[in-house]
Amino acid sequence: MSMTTINGRGGLPMVQIQTSWSTAEIYLQGACVTHFQVHGEAPLLFLSEHSRFEPGAAIRGGIPIIFPWFGRPPGRATQHGFARLRAWELVGLHRTGDGSATAHLSLPTTAELLSIPLDYYVTIGKTLTVELVVRNYSSAPFAFENCLHTYLAVGDIERIRVTGLQGTEYLDATAKFLRKQEAAESIRFDREVDRIYLNSRNAVEVHDPVLQRTVQVTTENSATTVIWNPWMTKARDMVDFGDEEYRRMVCVESGNVAENGIQLAVGEEARLKATYRQTKSDAPG
Ligand code: BG6
Repeated sequence: MSMTTINGRGGLPMVQIQTSWSTAEIYLQGACVTHFQVHGEAPLLFLSEHSRFEPGAAIRGGIPIIFPWFGRPPGRATQHGFARLRAWELVGLHRTGDGSATAHLSLPTTAELLSIPLDYYVTIGKTLTVELVVRNYSSAPFAFENCLHTYLAVGDIERIRVTGLQGTEYLDATAKFLRKQEAAESIRFDREVDRIYLNSRNAVEVHDPVLQRTVQVTTENSATTVIWNPWMTKARDMVDFGDEEYRRMVCVESGNVAENGIQLAVGEEARLKATYRQTKSDAPG
């Protein structure tokens, strides 16, 4: 196991971790895991070639941390909160028994939230596990949303299937957040998809015949799954995203959003955990 901190893109501090299973890269900017790769396999995460790497800007790809709100609620100027915009601290790296390693990062205080420290644990092994811990040391209950905005790499967006959400109610962000129910066993993509699936605690799987793998996302304390692909028109509008890059990613986001938002009592902590597991699948016949 080894860990090196270097100046990554844009000169931003980046932690490179190598274990006997896999490699990973984490930017302190936003505590963003931008790369995870099991030895001999394709990278798990998508990272835009056009991403900004600047202090105070969100990284386009990897796993941005959405906190303390999702989207842009009334009265909030910053989309998806400020945790992804801040420089986090690296606390340390701990070895675990099976050859994995856990990096611990923290955002102790922010101007906005003096008594709500954040901790983030990234476990790099045969699988990738990320866990966000929010503690309420203030003197009042704290209401917030959280979300791990994971960009998964895919071989071809038009050929993947996402399963695990059938029968689940969702808010369709492409239709003024109209409430709908997922009828399909598999979600397929041939247009922009931007959906907030509520009360969805089952594992979600991305079946990818081109990369010949299935990525399974399992969670703890996540009541919401967001599925997002910007498709062609939105891709062109995004300055930090290539026009064709929508073909190579899908966001499967785990958290607690909208009516699943969290009310944290004084002195309590909220843990949000997601694990990404890849299995090989056969080439399409
Ligand atoms: C998704 C939202 O989570 O994030 C989308 O559902 C949004 O509506 C997308 O477009 C990307 O947001 P941003 O702020 O990173 O461009």
